[in-house]
Amino acid sequence: MPYSQLLSWYERNKRTLPFRGTRDPYAVWVSEIMLQQTRAETVAGYYDRFLKRFPTVRALAEADEQEVLKLWEGLGYYSRARNLHRAAGIVYHEYNGVIPASYEVVRSLPGVGDYTAAAVCSIAFGLPYPAIDGNLTRVISRVHGIREDVGIPSVRREIRRLAGENIDRERPGDWNQALMDIGASLCVPGTPDCAYCPLNARCDACANEDADMLPVRAAAKPPVPMDVGVSLVTCGGKILLMQREAALLRGLWVFALCESGSGKQDMENRLRALGLDPRFAADLGEAKHVFTHRVWNMRLYHFTVEKQAQIKNAIWADADILSALPLPTAMKKARQIAIETLRESR
Ligand code: ADE
Repeated sequence: MPYSQLLSWYERNKRTLPFRGTRDPYAVWVSEIMLQQTRAETVAGYYDRFLKRFPTVRALAEADEQEVLKLWEGLGYYSRARNLHRAAGIVYHEYNGVIPASYEVVRSLPGVGDYTAAAVCSIAFGLPYPAIDGNLTRVISRVHGIREDVGIPSVRREIRRLAGENIDRERPGDWNQALMDIGASLCVPGTPDCAYCPLNARCDACANEDADMLPVRAAAKPPVPMDVGVSLVTCGGKILLMQREAALLRGLWVFALCESGSGKQDMENRLRALGLDPRFAADLGEAKHVFTHRVWNMRLYHFTVEKQAQIKNAIWADADILSALPLPTAMKKARQIAIETLRESR
């Protein structure tokens, strides 16, 4: 039994994380959504604040989306927050605010995939579904010596089958979280720390000494670079903010952007197209933000205008409003300069 030492190792070594102290399905669900694409250590602070403000499904369902996004600010992948909010509405209205102990229902909620449904159902309800993410894929492919590309559907099915066969039926949530912790601390990408691993005696890759080669994965496409102009457009003590409609960062507030080029002339043309009469004030340097599929290479500008044109999905914000609205991390440098600029113009 490759996993016979796993749960006793977990008892001795489990990470103390704020969301580990509960089996409340709502709290587990919130934590697992936050943990998608984000490290457990980063999630901890956000999780506490979020649950304090929205302690129940009802509280979240009745909240304003902008407030939910504001609490999410800095965590990234904001569609997670929008889906969580939408899903809370569904649970509140269709299931009386109680998340049913059913994999199918949990899986059907917006923002919940196989992995998250399995994590929530195993931890909160004790249902035996393996939560297969990058960590579990790595650990299982090493333990069982899977040496084919884990991007291939039949190989993924094999990993799922092995996990399903081996999961502890009494404590599936602990089994999943134990493997997550091993994947985060010992069975790390590159060279793992097999000497301290509770699975080493029955691990195929450890015996073969090729754990550093596993899992086999075809190279991912690198994110596509884009030149983006970012303008602080000020009018007196106010600054132009626009709410994103495009899928990337939808619903968040950004400064005036030019996504067809980052040159000063591109930017000016874009501002004119918005109905503004911009006057160049300053070059504010550069910033870079890496998304999953895109890299924004940004040039930052300051323009002033005499008149606040009415622009669709846009507002003229003072420093207080600027601080209160949810802005993406990509705007961090621009926002810092904007706050200073607005302060000086007071
Ligand atoms: N990553 C995703 N879910 C997790 C959990 N419950 N514990 C630790 N890491 C995780």
